[in-house]
Amino acid sequence: MIYTIVVKTLFGLEEVLVKELEVLGINDVKILRRAVEFQGDLSMVYKCNLHLRCALSVLVKIGQERVENEEQLYKYIYSIAWNDYFDLRQTIAVSVVTVSETMNHSLFLEQKTKDAVVDYFRDKFGDRPNVDIKNPDVKISIYLTDDTCNLYLDSSGQALYFRGFDKEIGEASINECLAAGIIQLSGWDLTGDFLDPMCGSGTFLTEAYMMARNMPAGISRKQFSFMNWNNFDSAEWKKILTQAKASICESKANIMGCDIDPEALRLSKINLYKLDKAHDVKIVASDFFTSKSLSEKGVIFSNPPYGTRMKLDDANDFYKKIGDKLKFDYAGYTAWIISSDMVAIKFVGMKPDKKWILYNGQLECRLHKYSIYSGSRKKQDYK
Ligand SMILES: C[S@@+](CC[C@H](N)C(=O)[O-])C[C@H]1O[C@@H](n2cnc3c(N)ncnc32)[C@H](O)[C@@H]1O
Repeated sequence: MIYTIVVKTLFGLEEVLVKELEVLGINDVKILRRAVEFQGDLSMVYKCNLHLRCALSVLVKIGQERVENEEQLYKYIYSIAWNDYFDLRQTIAVSVVTVSETMNHSLFLEQKTKDAVVDYFRDKFGDRPNVDIKNPDVKISIYLTDDTCNLYLDSSGQALYFRGFDKEIGEASINECLAAGIIQLSGWDLTGDFLDPMCGSGTFLTEAYMMARNMPAGISRKQFSFMNWNNFDSAEWKKILTQAKASICESKANIMGCDIDPEALRLSKINLYKLDKAHDVKIVASDFFTSKSLSEKGVIFSNPPYGTRMKLDDANDFYKKIGDKLKFDYAGYTAWIISSDMVAIKFVGMKPDKKWILYNGQLECRLHKYSIYSGSRKKQDYK
């Protein structure tokens, strides 16, 4: 059976997601805001959940109906044959995103939807499924416009940036999907020196390592919501998983992370170890401003501290020092710096080749790409 599939992502990563889907064999993709839409079967749903690095969740459309008020919503939801999708021993949760002018109270709409599902089971089977907001077996997702209810099942369950290896979260960690998206935006060729000089809990490192080894983003996850659906095809899932495992290769990259903070280094080490006990990522205690570059060329990916989540005495000066260090010690490198401090990032003092607006959760950020050429220090100064 062919479904409409909607994959949600972070603002600014839609095009990256389209490229990821091309690799999975999907070419006819409609770009939405913070999402993409295409047609595919359940096997593709499984592949998307396993492989996509920039996806937050994969939704499968199970219906659409003209709905103009809460009562019509209730009737429509009640009319769905829910026991085709799951049985009443499964726990459920409902999330509603509404852009309707009249039906604009999402909590009330969620309640109404939940009531309709519960009443359906109670009327038909004399018992009801329980609600579990935190960790439901089945997630029902609704996108409501002024006159239409779009009804989905969320096949992912827990958001896909949870990679499944029980990552320790640092004080100001970057979202995994964002880190993976930035690395993919960069067009990194998966070889050579890859450095995050302020690696924190190591998100760029874990994402780069998985890419360098062609490890699917979801390879460590034990649970996806589609596994709780009545139509779960475990043989197909095993086949997809086996193929993906067989495609994991040796890394041709030399990935390295540094940080000045012992706690950050501890977290990075734990995270890399949890991802792969036999990893070859180097994690080193060092102050970026006093350390030396170890090679003549490579790529740098980093989100330096920024005022919102970490205290910086003088953010402008800190970013100026980053720029100076890059210019004097990292000629031959290309640096990708992301920050939510829009003022301070300008103090890097080099003209970026390119800029992007991205979001780390709710935080608006700027991503700048700097090509650092040898012998052109003067030209790059203070633009
Ligand atoms: C925003 S956090 C990085 C978060 C990281 N990307 C993650 O996902 O966890 C910035 C990091 O820069 C580190 N840092 C600050 N000053 C530094 C310096 N001079 N040299 C190296 N690291 C530094 C901090 O200790 C902190 O871990």
